[in-house]
Amino acid sequence: MSSPRPTTTNAGIPVASDDHSLTAGPNGPVLLQDHYMIEKNAQFNRERVPERVVHAKGGGAFGFFETTEDVSQYTKAALFQPGVKTETLIRFSSVAGELGSPDTWRDPRGTAIKFYTSEGNFDLVGNNTPVFFIRDAIKFPDFIRSQKRRADNHLRDHDMQWDFWSQCPESAHQVTWLMGDRGIPKTWRNMNLYGSHTYLWENAKGEKFWVKYHFKTDQGHDFLTQEEADRLAGEDSDAHIRDLWSSIKSGNNPSWTLYVQVMPLEEAAEYRFNPFDLTKVWPHGDYPLIKVGRFVLNRNPENYFAQIEQAAFEPSNLVPGTGTSPDKMLQGRLFSYPDAHRYRIGPNYMDLPVNRPTAQVNSYAKDGPMRYSYGQDPVYAPNSYGGPHADTRNGSEDSAQGLEQEVVRTAYEKHAEDDDFGQAGTMVREVFSEEERQRFVNNVAGHLSKGVSQPILDRALQYWRNVDKDTGDKIAEKVQN
Ligand code: HEM
Repeated sequence: MSSPRPTTTNAGIPVASDDHSLTAGPNGPVLLQDHYMIEKNAQFNRERVPERVVHAKGGGAFGFFETTEDVSQYTKAALFQPGVKTETLIRFSSVAGELGSPDTWRDPRGTAIKFYTSEGNFDLVGNNTPVFFIRDAIKFPDFIRSQKRRADNHLRDHDMQWDFWSQCPESAHQVTWLMGDRGIPKTWRNMNLYGSHTYLWENAKGEKFWVKYHFKTDQGHDFLTQEEADRLAGEDSDAHIRDLWSSIKSGNNPSWTLYVQVMPLEEAAEYRFNPFDLTKVWPHGDYPLIKVGRFVLNRNPENYFAQIEQAAFEPSNLVPGTGTSPDKMLQGRLFSYPDAHRYRIGPNYMDLPVNRPTAQVNSYAKDGPMRYSYGQDPVYAPNSYGGPHADTRNGSEDSAQGLEQEVVRTAYEKHAEDDDFGQAGTMVREVFSEEERQRFVNNVAGHLSKGVSQPILDRALQYWRNVDKDTGDKIAEKVQN
Protein backbone atom coordinates (compact mmCIF):
# COMPACT_ATOMS: atom_id res chain seq x y z
CA MET A 1 0.00 0.00 0.00
CA SER A 2 1.46 3.34 -0.99
CA SER A 3 1.75 5.86 1.87
CA PRO A 4 0.14 9.27 1.50
CA ARG A 5 3.30 10.66 3.15
CA PRO A 6 6.49 9.53 1.39
CA THR A 7 9.59 9.39 3.59
CA THR A 8 11.99 12.25 2.92
CA THR A 9 15.48 13.16 4.00
CA ASN A 10 15.77 15.81 6.71
CA ALA A 11 15.96 18.27 3.83
CA GLY A 12 12.52 17.16 2.63
CA ILE A 13 13.70 15.24 -0.44
CA PRO A 14 11.75 12.02 -1.15
CA VAL A 15 13.83 8.86 -0.60
CA ALA A 16 13.72 5.49 -2.37
CA SER A 17 13.95 3.03 0.52
CA ASP A 18 14.00 2.64 4.28
CA ASP A 19 14.89 -1.06 3.89
CA HIS A 20 17.87 -1.35 1.58
CA SER A 21 21.05 0.66 1.36
CA LEU A 22 22.69 1.39 -1.96
CA THR A 23 25.18 -1.39 -2.79
CA ALA A 24 27.44 -2.48 -5.67
CA GLY A 25 25.31 -5.50 -6.66
CA PRO A 26 23.02 -7.37 -4.22
CA ASN A 27 25.98 -8.72 -2.23
CA GLY A 28 28.40 -5.86 -2.73
CA PRO A 29 29.69 -3.17 -0.33
CA VAL A 30 27.65 -0.08 0.56
CA LEU A 31 28.33 3.03 -1.48
CA LEU A 32 29.40 6.28 0.16
CA GLN A 33 26.93 8.06 -2.10
CA ASP A 34 24.08 6.58 -0.02
CA HIS A 35 23.95 9.80 1.95
CA TYR A 36 20.46 8.95 3.21
CA MET A 37 21.70 5.80 4.98
CA ILE A 38 24.55 7.91 6.40
CA GLU A 39 22.15 10.67 7.50
CA LYS A 40 19.92 8.16 9.32
CA ASN A 41 22.78 6.57 11.23
CA ALA A 42 24.65 9.78 11.95
CA GLN A 43 21.47 11.35 13.30
CA PHE A 44 20.86 8.27 15.46
CA ASN A 45 24.36 8.54 16.95
CA ARG A 46 23.53 12.08 18.06
CA GLU A 47 20.03 11.39 19.40
CA ARG A 48 20.84 12.07 23.07
CA VAL A 49 21.70 15.15 25.05
CA PRO A 50 23.48 14.47 28.36
CA GLU A 51 21.00 13.53 31.06
CA ARG A 52 20.50 16.06 33.85
CA VAL A 53 23.27 15.61 36.44
CA VAL A 54 20.47 15.38 39.04
CA HIS A 55 16.71 14.89 38.51
CA ALA A 56 17.43 12.87 35.34
CA LYS A 57 14.27 10.74 35.43
CA GLY A 58 10.99 12.59 35.08
CA GLY A 59 7.89 13.46 33.17
CA GLY A 60 5.71 16.49 32.73
CA ALA A 61 2.60 18.20 31.47
CA PHE A 62 1.18 21.58 30.54
CA GLY A 63 -1.62 23.47 32.23
CA PHE A 64 -2.50 26.85 33.72
CA PHE A 65 -2.33 28.82 36.92
CA GLU A 66 -5.19 31.13 37.85
CA THR A 67 -4.95 33.73 40.60
CA THR A 68 -8.29 33.47 42.36
CA GLU A 69 -7.56 35.75 45.36
CA ASP A 70 -6.28 39.30 45.80
CA VAL A 71 -2.68 39.26 47.04
CA SER A 72 -1.77 42.57 45.37
CA GLN A 73 -0.97 44.02 48.82
CA TYR A 74 2.08 41.72 48.79
CA THR A 75 3.18 41.54 45.15
CA LYS A 76 2.83 43.52 41.96
CA ALA A 77 3.76 40.47 39.81
CA ALA A 78 1.34 40.41 36.86
CA LEU A 79 0.70 36.67 37.19
CA PHE A 80 -0.45 37.05 40.81
CA GLN A 81 -3.04 39.78 40.13
CA PRO A 82 -6.70 38.75 40.68
CA GLY A 83 -8.23 36.84 37.76
CA VAL A 84 -5.01 36.49 35.76
CA LYS A 85 -4.60 33.11 34.06
CA THR A 86 -1.12 31.99 32.98
CA GLU A 87 -0.01 29.05 30.81
CA THR A 88 2.34 26.68 32.66
CA LEU A 89 4.60 23.66 32.26
CA ILE A 90 5.60 21.33 35.09
CA ARG A 91 8.31 18.68 35.13
CA PHE A 92 8.21 16.12 37.95
CA SER A 93 11.33 14.09 38.69
CA SER A 94 13.20 11.98 41.20
CA VAL A 95 16.58 13.30 42.30
CA ALA A 96 19.35 10.74 42.48
CA GLY A 97 18.49 8.10 39.89
CA GLU A 98 19.46 8.07 36.24
CA LEU A 99 17.18 8.35 33.20
CA GLY A 100 16.02 4.71 33.44
CA SER A 101 15.67 4.44 37.21
CA PRO A 102 12.35 3.37 38.78
CA ASP A 103 9.87 6.12 39.60
CA THR A 104 9.14 4.57 43.00
CA TRP A 105 12.57 4.81 44.64
CA ARG A 106 12.59 6.58 48.02
CA ASP A 107 13.73 10.09 47.10
CA PRO A 108 12.38 13.63 47.12
CA ARG A 109 10.47 14.52 43.93
CA GLY A 110 11.42 17.57 41.87
CA THR A 111 8.52 19.84 40.93
CA ALA A 112 9.79 22.40 38.44
CA ILE A 113 7.09 24.81 37.25
CA LYS A 114 7.42 27.31 34.41
CA PHE A 115 4.85 30.12 34.24
CA TYR A 116 4.79 31.79 30.79
CA THR A 117 3.77 35.21 32.18
CA SER A 118 3.17 38.50 30.36
CA GLU A 119 6.37 39.79 32.05
CA GLY A 120 8.60 36.89 31.00
CA ASN A 121 9.10 33.36 32.28
CA PHE A 122 8.75 32.81 36.03
CA ASP A 123 10.22 29.47 37.17
CA LEU A 124 9.61 27.89 40.57
CA VAL A 125 12.06 24.99 40.65
CA GLY A 126 10.97 23.26 43.83
CA ASN A 127 10.50 19.86 45.40
CA ASN A 128 7.66 17.96 47.06
CA THR A 129 9.27 18.86 50.40
CA PRO A 130 9.51 22.25 52.13
CA VAL A 131 13.10 21.67 53.34
CA PHE A 132 16.40 20.28 52.05
CA PHE A 133 19.38 18.18 53.21
CA ILE A 134 21.94 20.99 53.40
CA ARG A 135 21.95 24.74 53.86
CA ASP A 136 24.99 25.87 51.84
CA ALA A 137 25.45 25.34 48.09
CA ILE A 138 29.14 24.56 48.61
CA LYS A 139 28.08 21.10 49.90
CA PHE A 140 25.75 20.26 47.00
CA PRO A 141 28.19 18.27 44.80
CA ASP A 142 29.35 16.25 47.86
CA PHE A 143 25.79 15.52 48.93
CA ILE A 144 24.73 14.42 45.45
CA ARG A 145 27.82 12.24 44.92
CA SER A 146 27.06 10.42 48.19
CA GLN A 147 23.62 9.59 46.73
CA LYS A 148 24.86 8.48 43.31
CA ARG A 149 27.44 5.77 42.51
CA ARG A 150 30.82 4.77 43.94
CA ALA A 151 33.95 5.32 41.86
CA ASP A 152 35.13 1.67 42.07
CA ASN A 153 32.17 -0.67 41.57
CA HIS A 154 29.69 1.86 40.16
CA LEU A 155 27.10 0.87 42.78
CA ARG A 156 24.90 3.07 44.94
CA ASP A 157 26.01 2.66 48.50
CA HIS A 158 24.19 3.18 51.80
CA ASP A 159 27.50 3.39 53.68
CA MET A 160 28.40 6.46 51.62
CA GLN A 161 24.95 8.01 52.13
CA TRP A 162 24.99 7.62 55.92
CA ASP A 163 28.63 8.69 56.09
CA PHE A 164 27.57 12.02 54.58
CA TRP A 165 24.25 12.42 56.42
CA SER A 166 25.59 11.50 59.86
CA GLN A 167 28.35 14.11 59.51
CA CYS A 168 25.93 16.77 58.31
CA PRO A 169 23.35 17.05 61.13
CA GLU A 170 21.51 19.79 59.24
CA SER A 171 20.22 16.95 57.02
CA ALA A 172 18.13 15.46 59.89
CA HIS A 173 14.89 17.27 59.10
CA GLN A 174 14.91 16.30 55.41
CA VAL A 175 16.04 12.71 56.08
CA THR A 176 13.22 12.32 58.64
CA TRP A 177 10.81 13.51 55.99
CA LEU A 178 12.38 11.17 53.40
CA MET A 179 12.09 8.09 55.61
CA GLY A 180 8.44 8.86 56.47
CA ASP A 181 5.39 8.10 54.33
CA ARG A 182 5.88 11.14 52.11
CA GLY A 183 9.27 9.75 51.03
CA ILE A 184 7.50 7.64 48.37
CA PRO A 185 4.36 9.34 47.00
CA LYS A 186 1.80 7.04 45.42
CA THR A 187 1.69 9.25 42.33
CA TRP A 188 2.91 12.72 41.45
CA ARG A 189 -0.72 13.82 41.71
CA ASN A 190 -0.85 12.81 45.39
CA MET A 191 1.80 15.13 46.75
CA ASN A 192 2.30 18.82 47.56
CA LEU A 193 4.69 21.03 45.62
CA TYR A 194 6.86 23.56 47.45
CA GLY A 195 9.02 26.49 46.40
CA SER A 196 11.01 25.46 49.53
CA HIS A 197 13.27 28.54 49.66
CA THR A 198 12.32 31.88 51.06
CA TYR A 199 11.76 34.30 48.19
CA LEU A 200 10.96 38.00 48.05
CA TRP A 201 7.72 39.69 47.00
CA GLU A 202 7.38 43.41 46.34
CA ASN A 203 4.11 45.30 45.94
CA ALA A 204 3.33 48.33 43.74
CA LYS A 205 4.22 50.69 46.64
CA GLY A 206 7.70 49.19 46.87
CA GLU A 207 6.97 47.33 50.15
CA LYS A 208 8.80 44.02 50.43
CA PHE A 209 7.93 40.70 52.07
CA TRP A 210 9.59 37.33 52.52
CA VAL A 211 7.45 34.57 51.05
CA LYS A 212 7.26 30.77 50.86
CA TYR A 213 5.16 28.93 48.23
CA HIS A 214 3.02 25.85 49.06
CA PHE A 215 0.96 24.06 46.38
CA LYS A 216 -1.42 21.72 48.23
CA THR A 217 -2.64 18.71 46.30
CA ASP A 218 -6.39 18.64 45.61
CA GLN A 219 -6.17 14.86 45.05
CA GLY A 220 -5.24 14.21 48.69
CA HIS A 221 -1.97 12.76 49.96
CA ASP A 222 -1.24 9.14 49.29
CA PHE A 223 1.93 7.09 49.58
CA LEU A 224 3.47 3.70 48.84
CA THR A 225 4.91 1.49 51.55
CA GLN A 226 8.50 0.36 50.98
CA GLU A 227 7.22 -3.09 49.99
CA GLU A 228 4.70 -1.69 47.46
CA ALA A 229 7.33 0.60 46.00
CA ASP A 230 9.87 -2.23 45.66
CA ARG A 231 7.33 -4.39 43.87
CA LEU A 232 6.29 -1.58 41.49
CA ALA A 233 9.94 -0.80 40.73
CA GLY A 234 10.11 -4.22 39.09
CA GLU A 235 6.63 -4.33 37.60
CA ASP A 236 6.38 -0.83 36.16
CA SER A 237 9.43 1.34 36.63
CA ASP A 238 7.60 4.20 34.85
CA ALA A 239 4.54 4.05 37.12
CA HIS A 240 4.50 7.78 37.89
CA ILE A 241 4.96 8.91 34.29
CA ARG A 242 2.21 6.50 33.26
CA ASP A 243 -0.17 7.68 35.99
CA LEU A 244 0.16 11.36 35.07
CA TRP A 245 -0.12 10.72 31.34
CA SER A 246 -3.16 8.46 31.56
CA SER A 247 -5.00 10.56 34.08
CA ILE A 248 -4.68 13.69 31.91
CA LYS A 249 -5.51 11.67 28.78
CA SER A 250 -8.74 10.48 30.38
CA GLY A 251 -9.70 14.04 31.36
CA ASN A 252 -8.95 13.53 35.05
CA ASN A 253 -6.91 16.73 35.34
CA PRO A 254 -4.94 17.03 38.57
CA SER A 255 -4.89 20.35 40.42
CA TRP A 256 -3.23 22.06 43.34
CA THR A 257 -4.17 25.13 45.41
CA LEU A 258 -1.39 27.66 45.89
CA TYR A 259 -0.91 29.23 49.30
CA VAL A 260 1.89 31.48 50.50
CA GLN A 261 3.34 32.26 53.88
CA VAL A 262 4.24 35.93 54.11
CA MET A 263 6.73 37.41 56.59
CA PRO A 264 7.15 41.19 56.87
CA LEU A 265 10.75 42.01 56.00
CA GLU A 266 11.60 43.49 59.38
CA GLU A 267 10.55 40.33 61.29
CA ALA A 268 13.30 38.19 59.74
CA ALA A 269 16.13 39.30 62.02
CA GLU A 270 14.34 38.42 65.26
CA TYR A 271 12.35 35.37 64.12
CA ARG A 272 12.93 32.30 66.33
CA PHE A 273 14.31 30.33 63.35
CA ASN A 274 16.61 31.68 60.67
CA PRO A 275 13.99 32.29 57.96
CA PHE A 276 16.53 31.76 55.15
CA ASP A 277 17.79 28.39 56.39
CA LEU A 278 16.47 25.80 53.89
CA THR A 279 16.55 23.04 56.52
CA LYS A 280 13.76 24.79 58.48
CA VAL A 281 10.06 25.43 57.95
CA TRP A 282 8.13 28.42 59.27
CA PRO A 283 5.46 26.84 61.51
CA HIS A 284 2.01 27.73 60.16
CA GLY A 285 1.01 28.99 63.61
CA ASP A 286 3.61 31.75 63.16
CA TYR A 287 2.88 32.51 59.51
CA PRO A 288 -0.49 31.12 58.34
CA LEU A 289 -1.17 30.01 54.79
CA ILE A 290 -2.70 32.67 52.55
CA LYS A 291 -4.58 31.40 49.51
CA VAL A 292 -3.47 32.65 46.09
CA GLY A 293 -4.91 30.52 43.29
CA ARG A 294 -5.36 27.29 41.41
CA PHE A 295 -2.87 25.28 39.37
CA VAL A 296 -4.27 22.74 36.90
CA LEU A 297 -2.59 20.27 34.52
CA ASN A 298 -4.67 19.55 31.43
CA ARG A 299 -2.37 18.80 28.47
CA ASN A 300 0.13 16.02 27.86
CA PRO A 301 3.28 16.72 25.86
CA GLU A 302 3.19 15.78 22.18
CA ASN A 303 6.90 15.09 22.06
CA TYR A 304 8.66 14.05 25.25
CA PHE A 305 12.17 14.95 24.11
CA ALA A 306 11.36 18.37 22.69
CA GLN A 307 9.04 19.49 25.46
CA ILE A 308 10.21 17.71 28.62
CA GLU A 309 13.79 16.50 28.16
CA GLN A 310 14.82 19.85 26.67
CA ALA A 311 12.80 21.92 29.13
CA ALA A 312 15.13 24.23 31.05
CA PHE A 313 14.09 25.62 34.44
CA GLU A 314 16.08 28.13 36.43
CA PRO A 315 15.43 29.70 39.85
CA SER A 316 16.88 32.94 38.46
CA ASN A 317 13.82 33.42 36.23
CA LEU A 318 12.09 35.86 38.57
CA VAL A 319 9.61 38.40 37.20
CA PRO A 320 9.00 41.95 38.53
CA GLY A 321 7.35 41.75 41.97
CA THR A 322 9.33 38.59 42.87
CA GLY A 323 12.95 38.24 43.94
CA THR A 324 15.65 36.32 45.71
CA SER A 325 16.59 36.09 49.39
CA PRO A 326 19.91 35.64 51.22
CA ASP A 327 19.33 31.84 51.39
CA LYS A 328 22.81 30.42 50.63
CA MET A 329 21.31 27.52 48.69
CA LEU A 330 19.16 29.73 46.50
CA GLN A 331 22.13 31.99 45.82
CA GLY A 332 24.13 28.97 44.58
CA ARG A 333 21.25 27.76 42.44
CA LEU A 334 20.99 31.11 40.67
CA PHE A 335 24.30 30.25 39.03
CA SER A 336 23.89 26.48 38.57
CA TYR A 337 20.85 26.10 36.34
CA PRO A 338 21.61 28.37 33.36
CA ASP A 339 25.17 27.01 33.51
CA ALA A 340 23.84 23.41 33.35
CA HIS A 341 21.52 24.26 30.44
CA ARG A 342 24.28 25.83 28.35
CA TYR A 343 26.23 22.57 28.75
CA ARG A 344 23.34 20.09 28.50
CA ILE A 345 21.24 21.65 25.76
CA GLY A 346 23.39 24.41 24.28
CA PRO A 347 23.81 28.16 24.73
CA ASN A 348 20.63 29.02 22.82
CA TYR A 349 18.38 26.76 24.92
CA MET A 350 15.99 29.66 25.48
CA ASP A 351 15.23 29.65 21.74
CA LEU A 352 13.56 26.22 21.90
CA PRO A 353 9.74 26.46 21.75
CA VAL A 354 9.21 24.97 25.23
CA ASN A 355 11.57 27.45 26.85
CA ARG A 356 10.74 30.50 24.77
CA PRO A 357 8.79 33.16 26.70
CA THR A 358 5.38 34.19 25.40
CA ALA A 359 6.36 37.73 26.47
CA GLN A 360 8.28 39.73 23.90
CA VAL A 361 12.06 39.23 24.13
CA ASN A 362 14.17 42.35 23.53
CA SER A 363 17.55 41.02 24.61
CA TYR A 364 20.89 41.88 23.06
CA ALA A 365 21.81 38.17 22.80
CA LYS A 366 23.18 37.37 19.34
CA ASP A 367 24.13 34.34 17.24
CA GLY A 368 25.75 31.17 18.63
CA PRO A 369 25.14 27.46 17.89
CA MET A 370 21.63 26.51 16.73
CA ARG A 371 20.32 30.07 16.96
CA TYR A 372 16.75 30.18 15.75
CA SER A 373 15.35 33.61 16.56
CA TYR A 374 17.17 36.68 15.37
CA GLY A 375 17.28 40.19 16.71
CA GLN A 376 17.49 43.27 14.60
CA ASP A 377 20.02 46.05 14.36
CA PRO A 378 21.30 47.75 16.41
CA VAL A 379 23.07 44.77 18.04
CA TYR A 380 24.74 46.75 20.83
CA ALA A 381 23.80 49.09 23.67
CA PRO A 382 23.94 52.02 24.13
CA ASN A 383 22.97 53.00 20.58
CA SER A 384 21.43 55.91 18.72
CA TYR A 385 19.09 53.78 16.58
CA GLY A 386 16.08 53.02 18.75
CA GLY A 387 17.29 49.76 20.33
CA PRO A 388 15.72 48.60 23.64
CA HIS A 389 16.65 50.56 26.77
CA ALA A 390 17.13 49.02 30.21
CA ASP A 391 14.95 50.78 32.78
CA THR A 392 16.49 51.54 36.16
CA ARG A 393 13.06 51.16 37.77
CA ASN A 394 13.40 47.39 37.23
CA GLY A 395 15.28 45.15 39.63
CA SER A 396 14.19 46.87 42.84
CA GLU A 397 13.55 43.36 44.23
CA ASP A 398 17.26 42.47 44.12
CA SER A 399 18.15 41.79 47.70
CA ALA A 400 21.07 43.91 48.80
CA GLN A 401 21.17 42.40 52.29
CA GLY A 402 24.56 41.86 53.76
CA LEU A 403 26.54 43.69 51.12
CA GLU A 404 28.19 46.01 53.63
CA GLN A 405 29.30 43.19 55.92
CA GLU A 406 32.77 41.81 56.46
CA VAL A 407 33.61 38.95 54.05
CA VAL A 408 33.57 35.64 55.96
CA ARG A 409 33.27 31.87 55.48
CA THR A 410 31.03 30.87 58.32
CA ALA A 411 27.69 29.35 59.34
CA TYR A 412 24.53 31.47 59.47
CA GLU A 413 24.15 33.54 62.62
CA LYS A 414 22.05 31.54 65.07
CA HIS A 415 18.44 32.51 65.81
CA ALA A 416 16.90 31.68 69.21
CA GLU A 417 15.58 28.20 68.38
CA ASP A 418 17.96 27.15 65.62
CA ASP A 419 19.35 23.68 66.00
CA ASP A 420 19.68 20.79 63.59
CA PHE A 421 17.44 18.26 65.30
CA GLY A 422 14.56 20.32 66.76
CA GLN A 423 12.13 20.46 63.82
CA ALA A 424 12.96 16.85 62.88
CA GLY A 425 12.06 15.77 66.44
CA THR A 426 8.79 17.70 66.30
CA MET A 427 7.95 15.91 63.07
CA VAL A 428 8.57 12.45 64.54
CA ARG A 429 6.68 13.16 67.78
CA GLU A 430 3.85 15.49 66.69
CA VAL A 431 3.29 15.14 62.94
CA PHE A 432 3.67 11.36 62.43
CA SER A 433 0.83 9.10 63.58
CA GLU A 434 1.75 6.03 65.63
CA GLU A 435 1.51 3.84 62.49
CA GLU A 436 3.64 6.22 60.48
CA ARG A 437 6.23 6.29 63.28
CA GLN A 438 6.40 2.50 63.16
CA ARG A 439 6.83 2.47 59.37
CA PHE A 440 9.45 5.20 59.78
CA VAL A 441 11.46 3.08 62.25
CA ASN A 442 11.26 0.12 59.84
CA ASN A 443 12.28 2.26 56.86
CA VAL A 444 15.31 3.74 58.62
CA ALA A 445 16.37 0.41 60.14
CA GLY A 446 15.97 -1.32 56.75
CA HIS A 447 18.09 1.35 55.08
CA LEU A 448 20.78 1.19 57.76
CA SER A 449 20.88 -2.60 57.54
CA LYS A 450 22.11 -2.52 53.96
CA GLY A 451 25.89 -2.36 54.18
CA VAL A 452 26.50 0.51 56.63
CA SER A 453 29.82 -0.09 58.38
CA GLN A 454 31.28 1.04 61.72
CA PRO A 455 31.84 3.72 62.94
CA ILE A 456 29.30 5.21 60.53
CA LEU A 457 26.50 3.02 61.88
CA ASP A 458 27.04 4.21 65.47
CA ARG A 459 27.14 7.81 64.30
CA ALA A 460 23.89 7.31 62.38
CA LEU A 461 22.16 5.76 65.43
CA GLN A 462 23.29 8.70 67.57
CA TYR A 463 21.92 11.05 64.88
CA TRP A 464 18.46 9.44 65.32
CA ARG A 465 18.69 9.54 69.12
CA ASN A 466 19.41 13.27 68.74
CA VAL A 467 16.23 13.60 66.68
CA ASP A 468 14.19 11.65 69.24
CA LYS A 469 15.69 9.44 71.95
CA ASP A 470 12.89 6.89 72.01
CA THR A 471 12.67 6.55 68.22
CA GLY A 472 16.48 6.34 67.97
CA ASP A 473 16.51 3.50 70.52
CA LYS A 474 13.85 1.62 68.56
CA ILE A 475 15.84 2.00 65.34
CA ALA A 476 19.00 0.79 67.11
CA GLU A 477 17.16 -2.23 68.50
CA LYS A 478 15.91 -3.22 65.07
CA VAL A 479 19.29 -2.73 63.40
CA GLN A 480 21.18 -4.66 66.06
CA ASN A 481 18.81 -7.66 66.10
C1 HEM B 1 17.86 20.11 38.74
C2 HEM B 1 21.69 22.10 40.89
C3 HEM B 1 19.21 22.36 45.04
C4 HEM B 1 15.20 21.28 42.62
C5 HEM B 1 19.13 20.57 38.98
C6 HEM B 1 20.19 20.59 38.02
C7 HEM B 1 21.27 21.15 38.62
C8 HEM B 1 20.88 21.49 39.97
C9 HEM B 1 22.62 21.43 38.01
C10 HEM B 1 20.12 20.04 36.60
C11 HEM B 1 19.57 21.10 35.70
C12 HEM B 1 19.45 20.64 34.26
O1 HEM B 1 20.40 20.05 33.74
O2 HEM B 1 18.40 20.92 33.64
C13 HEM B 1 21.34 22.36 42.20
C14 HEM B 1 22.20 22.98 43.19
C15 HEM B 1 21.50 23.02 44.35
C16 HEM B 1 20.20 22.46 44.10
C17 HEM B 1 23.61 23.46 42.94
C18 HEM B 1 21.90 23.54 45.71
C19 HEM B 1 22.74 24.51 45.90
C20 HEM B 1 17.90 22.15 44.74
C21 HEM B 1 16.79 22.38 45.63
C22 HEM B 1 15.66 22.08 44.94
C23 HEM B 1 16.06 21.66 43.62
C24 HEM B 1 16.92 22.89 47.06
C25 HEM B 1 14.24 22.17 45.37
C26 HEM B 1 13.83 22.98 46.31
C27 HEM B 1 15.59 20.86 41.37
C28 HEM B 1 14.68 20.36 40.38
C29 HEM B 1 15.44 20.02 39.27
C30 HEM B 1 16.82 20.31 39.59
C31 HEM B 1 13.17 20.25 40.52
C32 HEM B 1 14.93 19.42 37.98
C33 HEM B 1 14.47 20.53 37.06
C34 HEM B 1 13.87 19.93 35.81
O3 HEM B 1 12.85 19.23 35.95
O4 HEM B 1 14.42 20.16 34.74
N1 HEM B 1 19.57 21.11 40.17
N2 HEM B 1 20.14 22.07 42.78
N3 HEM B 1 17.42 21.71 43.53
N4 HEM B 1 16.87 20.82 40.87
FE1 HEM B 1 18.47 21.44 41.82
